[in-house]
Amino acid sequence: MSMPNAERSIHPEPTDGSAHVIVVGNEKGGAGKSTVAIHLAVALMRMGKTVGVIDLDLRQATLTRYLENRRRWAERRSVALPIPVEKFLPTPAARSLDEVEAEEQAAWADALAALKAECDFIIVDAPGGDTHYARLAHASADTIVTPINDSFVDFALLADVDPETFEVGRPSVYAAMVWECRKLKARTERRTIDWVVMRNRISMLDALNKRRVWDGLKKLSERIGFRLAPGFCERVIYRELFPAGLTLLDLTESGSKAPFTMSHVAARQELRELIIILKLPGLAGARMPC
Ligand SMILES: Nc1ncnc2c1ncn2[C@@H]1O[C@H](COP(=O)(O)OP(=O)(O)O)[C@@H](O)[C@H]1O
Ligand SMILES: [Mg+2]
Repeated sequence: MSMPNAERSIHPEPTDGSAHVIVVGNEKGGAGKSTVAIHLAVALMRMGKTVGVIDLDLRQATLTRYLENRRRWAERRSVALPIPVEKFLPTPAARSLDEVEAEEQAAWADALAALKAECDFIIVDAPGGDTHYARLAHASADTIVTPINDSFVDFALLADVDPETFEVGRPSVYAAMVWECRKLKARTERRTIDWVVMRNRISMLDALNKRRVWDGLKKLSERIGFRLAPGFCERVIYRELFPAGLTLLDLTESGSKAPFTMSHVAARQELRELIIILKLPGLAGARMPC
């Protein structure tokens, strides 16, 4: 597979095995990247791991704002909530593209090295678009998690798919970029990047569509080379959690007055299943958050 500009100025940072880098990415806004990123971060912290985060969506900064809300909530209610270490990346002042990319490369390397020195896991929340920082992050990943909305429209994020026959055509620019990062990593570090696509916002009402999307994604996964995770259902709770900076795993001990329902229990189970499927290193013996 070839991709124009794919290798342009992407040099994966060598990993020394000190921290596992998870990049939550795709090239679309609103698919659930930031929601997945914060939930993975809190789940891993509640499993006793130190977690660092980098919000690469410098425009929306959802993860940064999520964490600000979380700190504020914890302070005001005097509750102890696990908070990840956060590193911020500068937006270089625009001069020549080469200079900007060189500055971004250096800033990225510094942030990653700093987090690697103190964390077991680094979670990167990627922007919904193709940026140089996003490419650097994908090239540094050990695991890429790609949430996609549960509809055939979002298949286009991965490849051209015939809407009637489900024949898989050309991989998308994003899939090609991931592919290129994988090749680079295999060549330079003799390691692979594990790519996991997860469904998000699955409708609990439309069982037929659910099956068809799953079957279509299975076909795609074989062609494009990702693993598939069942993912998260559509639940209002995700939208309600953001202003408080809370996750599903904080509800009972956070001072929140939100009633804990069966829907939340099911949602936590979906998160646990995602963590199992990710097969992250160093979790043997760690108690899953409940
Ligand atoms: N499973 C879900 N059910 C309901 N709402 C969701 C779900 N996942 C994400 N959302 C909501 O969708 C919006 C976009 O999610 P977000 O994580 O910010 O996406 P991205 O980072 O990919 O742009 C947010 O309001 C979020 O609360
Ligand atoms: Mg986001």
